Amino acid sequence: MSTHDNLPATTTADEQAAIEAATAALPAHAPRRTDVDPKAARRAERQVALMFLGSALMTVLFVVAFVAIPVDETVYIWGIGPTNASNIALGVTFGLAIFLIGAGAIHWSKKLMNEKEVVQLRHPLSSTDEDRQAAIDAFDEYSADSGFAQRPIIRRSLITAMVLFPIPLVVMLRDLGPLPGTVLRETLWRPGSRIITDPTGRPIRPSDLAIGGLISAIPEDLPAVQEEEHNLNARAKAAIILVRMEPQEIVSQQGDNWDFGGILAYSKICTHVGCPIALYQQRTHHLLCPCHQSTFDLADSGNVVFGPAARRLPQLPITIDPEGFLVAVDGFAEPVGPSFWERGNS
Ligand code: FES
Repeated sequence: MSTHDNLPATTTADEQAAIEAATAALPAHAPRRTDVDPKAARRAERQVALMFLGSALMTVLFVVAFVAIPVDETVYIWGIGPTNASNIALGVTFGLAIFLIGAGAIHWSKKLMNEKEVVQLRHPLSSTDEDRQAAIDAFDEYSADSGFAQRPIIRRSLITAMVLFPIPLVVMLRDLGPLPGTVLRETLWRPGSRIITDPTGRPIRPSDLAIGGLISAIPEDLPAVQEEEHNLNARAKAAIILVRMEPQEIVSQQGDNWDFGGILAYSKICTHVGCPIALYQQRTHHLLCPCHQSTFDLADSGNVVFGPAARRLPQLPITIDPEGFLVAVDGFAEPVGPSFWERGNS
């Protein structure tokens, strides 16, 4: 037991007396086993190092699991049922990597660091130069007490764990996906793609859509492509909405006569961050995104009239085929969905 050896130079006689009184009231210091038994101290040292190295190992296993386990692999967990194997492996390894660093640090402080009791007065928050110097001296003292410099095995294993620990954060950048490149510029819509209802898959005639009506639709070949790809990427890009209004209500379009008899086709994917949109107000011709309230005027080229979206909804030019069903004249002229780095101003 001892008082603080680095009292600020401004400590008054009264403060000194208070410190001494508080110090005298402290119970007698009881040394730990590791304080008196060098073997116990070495054992604790090895335990701490093992935990730090265990953390490093977990970090490496995290990276291995991230690369090696397919994202759609499942595993049966008792009490939970079939679960995504990648999520389980990443969660367990990352959790243990954090836990073992914390557990090692606690074990180190409890078993090996100097645990002498200290009495210290509270002073105003703004420190004087003398106080700052005292803090530096105290830091040096406690640093020496912790044995950080004298216990190289702990120091190196901790440094190893801390250096490897941020790696999962970097590796997980892969989950942001590849750079889009041309992927978002291409959808399944081609000249002549027949427009079918989503999800019932029925071809659409102009007479199926009343003035003020809205239909969610997809290209006819989407179901087959989706089955082949086993994912929803193609659907996420190709989904459209059809709305019908009086032709004279149309203020502007993204191309000449891209409507068919007042029927307009727009991408269903919000240009803010990609929510699907289908909240249509017939009277104003406004389409409202439920996520962050971006609002698009479908009678005026799909322009943004409110909200955080920075770009208009891409319009799909449509007509009818010889059988009288609605088809695309061409693909989208602009990339669908949210902005991305290479998109530029299109
Ligand atoms: S995703 Fe539509 S407003 Fe944000």
